[in-house]
Parts: sequence; C-alpha cells; structure tokens
Amino acid sequence: MRPRLPLLVAALAGCLLPAQGCIMCDPKALKALKSLENDYLPGHLEAKHHQNVMKRVQEALQNFEELPIDENSYVGVIDEPTLEKVSWSFLKDLKRITDSDVKGELFVKELFWMLHQEKDTFARHVAQFQREAFCPNKCGMMLQSLIWCSNCEKQVHACQKSKDCGERRVEVRAMEDLILDCELNWHKASEGLTDYSFYRVWSNNSETLMSKGKEPTLTKPLVGQEDEGTYRCELGSVKGGLATVIHFHVTGYFAFGLGRQWMP
Ligand SMILES: *[C@@H]1O[C@H](CO)[C@@H](O)[C@H](O)[C@H]1NC(C)=O
Repeated sequence: MRPRLPLLVAALAGCLLPAQGCIMCDPKALKALKSLENDYLPGHLEAKHHQNVMKRVQEALQNFEELPIDENSYVGVIDEPTLEKVSWSFLKDLKRITDSDVKGELFVKELFWMLHQEKDTFARHVAQFQREAFCPNKCGMMLQSLIWCSNCEKQVHACQKSKDCGERRVEVRAMEDLILDCELNWHKASEGLTDYSFYRVWSNNSETLMSKGKEPTLTKPLVGQEDEGTYRCELGSVKGGLATVIHFHVTGYFAFGLGRQWMP
C-alpha cells in the first residue's frame, strides 16, 4: 500500500459494511437471480440442492468486490455506466447457460465457472472506472454521482482537486473577436453545476462582472487595446463552493495601420 491514501479512500474503505454485492445493485441482475431460482432450477436441478446453490451464488456475487482497497483499482464505489457494463456481462453469461438448457451437476459446474470468470470481468471494469472515470477532474470540484457497493446507496460525491484551474494566455489581433473559453472536459459530466461568471480584473484588483449564465464562453467582438488585461471566470456549484476558477491574460497584437492604432 502507498504511504498515504487520500482521505477519501480511507473514508470509503472505513464505511464498508458487509457487502451486498455490487452487481446486485442493478435491479436487472436481482430479477435474473429470482428467475434463475423460480423458473430454471425446477426442472434442471434436484429440489434438495436449490437452496444451497442459490446461497452459494449469492456468496460468489458478494465475493466479487472482495478486492483490495486501492486508489488505482477499487475503493468500494462504482458509477452507473460501469455497473451497467458488469451487470450486462453477467446477465449475458447467465442467459447463455440457461438457454443451453444444461441440467444437474453440469449446470452447477458451468454456473460457478461463469461466476468465477465474471469476478475477473468485474475487477477489470471497476479498475478501469477507478483509473479513468472516478473523479476525472484534474482541478476544481466535480460533483459525481456514485453508487456505494456496500449498500447500493447512490450519492453525489464532491471530487475536490486544487482550487485554481490555472492561467491561460490569450492573444488577439485588432478587430478580431476575443473569446475566453472556461469549459473543461469534465464540466458536462458533472452534476450540480450552476453558472459561469466572467469578470474583468483591473490592476487595482477591483473586478467588474461581464457576463453570467450557462454559456461557458465569453465573446467580445472587435477587440481593441482597451480589452487587454486580466479576466477571471468562475463556475459555481449547488454545493456552494466554486467548481472552477480560471484566469485569462489577454494581450493584443495591434500593428500600425490595422484596426485601432496604438499611439504612445
Ligand atoms: C479600479 O480601476 C477601474 C478601472 O480603471 C475603475 O473603474 C475602478 O473605479 C477602480 N476601483 C477602485 C476601487 O479604485
């Protein structure tokens, strides 16, 4: 284990209750299990084995998430698309078995072999989620909807990274449009974001609000020398804190004879 797990990981790991089975958080998977018990087992397995097989299936599914807690592979949470993927894979394999009409001992063997393989599939998908889709923002605060595997609870998690999303240099030429783009690639995927506000920051540090709304860009047509300077954009969130702050430093290239002229 790494010397210092982020607080979040420690917190998530700490609240792991007896596992319910992540896949079982999908109602479709629950329904398929019920159907396996009520529709398939009768006619394919002696009645005296039913209870035991179903118990072992549940244990095997719970066992899926007995993975080491590691910030690079699994911290006990999953998102809806990943749950959809692992559940789909499980349902597809279960259907393949029941479609084959296999009976008795061979059925039990195939069922548990399938579950064994599905465990690897689960581990692979959650690790990919953990690496690529869990709190994908590099800065600011993203609000991500997650499912806690321990109790299937869905909660919005605030992915807090460094507050400031940096500075951008923007160069403009006379008579062009000044376009400041405040959108980061994770904004559309985030829950609970409110408005983008653009401010002009004056050299005396006072600020003037230039625009506020859902639009992530500020456009100012026909720039001139007076538009050079510092701007700041803020994206708000329903949690109160700011989701993103970006500073823009606008410099112009105002050659003689083009547009507005620069004169000493
Ligand atoms: C700061 O500078 C701006 C632009 O030069 C001016 O409009 C504003 O009144 C100044 N604010 C203060 C507090 O001096």
